[in-house]
Amino acid sequence: MTPPQATATVAPRGLKNLLVADTQIGDVRGEEGFYHYRQYSAIELCEKRTLEDVWYLMLEGRLPSLAERETFIKETAPLREIPPDVAEALPVIAHGGDRFIPLDALRTAVSLTAYTLDFKPVLDCDAQTLRANALHLCALTPTLLTALYRLNRGERPVPPHPKLPYGANYLYMLTGAEPEPRHARAIEQYLTSTIDHGFNASTFTARVITSTGADVGAAITGAIGALSGPLHGGAPSRALEMLDLIGDPDNADAWIRDAVRHGKRIMGFGHRVYRTEDPRAIMLRRVAEELGGDIVEFAERVERTVVDVLAELKPGRRIYTNVEFYAGVVMELCGIPRRMFTPTFASSRVIGWCAHVLEQASDNVLIRPSARYTGPPPPQPIPDPA
Ligand SMILES: CC(C)(COP(=O)(O)OP(=O)(O)OC[C@H]1O[C@@H](n2cnc3c(N)ncnc32)[C@H](O)[C@@H]1OP(=O)(O)O)[C@@H](O)C(=O)NCCC(=O)NCCS
Repeated sequence: MTPPQATATVAPRGLKNLLVADTQIGDVRGEEGFYHYRQYSAIELCEKRTLEDVWYLMLEGRLPSLAERETFIKETAPLREIPPDVAEALPVIAHGGDRFIPLDALRTAVSLTAYTLDFKPVLDCDAQTLRANALHLCALTPTLLTALYRLNRGERPVPPHPKLPYGANYLYMLTGAEPEPRHARAIEQYLTSTIDHGFNASTFTARVITSTGADVGAAITGAIGALSGPLHGGAPSRALEMLDLIGDPDNADAWIRDAVRHGKRIMGFGHRVYRTEDPRAIMLRRVAEELGGDIVEFAERVERTVVDVLAELKPGRRIYTNVEFYAGVVMELCGIPRRMFTPTFASSRVIGWCAHVLEQASDNVLIRPSARYTGPPPPQPIPDPA
């Protein structure tokens, strides 16, 4: 019999550049520096629409009318409330380890929520139930995250504000104060820009889990797990830490040369897909400039220096600013604590994951590749226990 390996196609390492699915949700064009949600430029959506509109677009496949927007807001607002059984367990999760890791705590709370709310396997659900489960997790995630953060600090969770939209409500639940409109809008634009970004590792994870027929909670829990890895979720806080270490713009050139010569990566620069400026970095630079402040001028000077030094020391690599550099600056200016930077990103990425879960479920096939066995040739004689 022919071994299966002989007929299988060998995929590139890391599945790089391998097309593994059809999707109508969006894509990234690295050479152009462009990405889109459905048929619209994601950046244009960030500039012209609310987060709720884009959330609707991702789940429903089209932008809402004004009336549909209102209905959607009314439908999702109550879903932000933490179910009582979950609320009871949150203090335990918030103090579960020696160190509080917000994404790990969120992963646990999302899993508990899906379990408590009795989410059924995707395979046994109709489209309406699946949509309801997905909507619920999207609406609840920011509340869970901010509640866990506050509980860990010994503060009472701030319940969602019934009148505030998504971005403003996020800052409100985190800090307990109604944010300035310019901060609310800046965070809304950031959150909208991170809803989806091609077939990245966490999105793929969500689709693989969905393909097994497991419930939406399992898919989102797994996706958060994938995002928590530093190679994926990155660390926008590291870009700010670098600014702290540089200290003064006049030190930037020497600091960066020294770092690159010692084989270090400059945080907030370079991207696996973009070979030009990351469009999210361009938008967030503009958002940061609108917010203003010394840190923005400093960041811009450092950015110019990094790009010039990397062009000189790494010729031909085309390394430019990525989303994380200005994301850190914007979040800092809006009062988000550094340890909440990556979790904040996760709180809106849930919308993208859920859109992919629904798409996968709507035309499902079990995702089950093969691996080439490279160990000693089987079957070897089984040794007797020594
Ligand atoms: C994001 C990242 C992993 C993408 O890397 P990639 O496209 O796979 O590129 P490679 O790792 O193959 O690097 C290609 C070359 O550019 C260099 N390079 C890439 N990004 C760099 C950076 N930020 N600082 C210094 N050098 C960098 C590499 O050292 C390598 O140089 P070499 O060819 O002399 O070995 C990488 O750019 C990086 O580590 N950036 C810093 C961390 C960061 O900001 N992460 C958030 C991403 S959104």
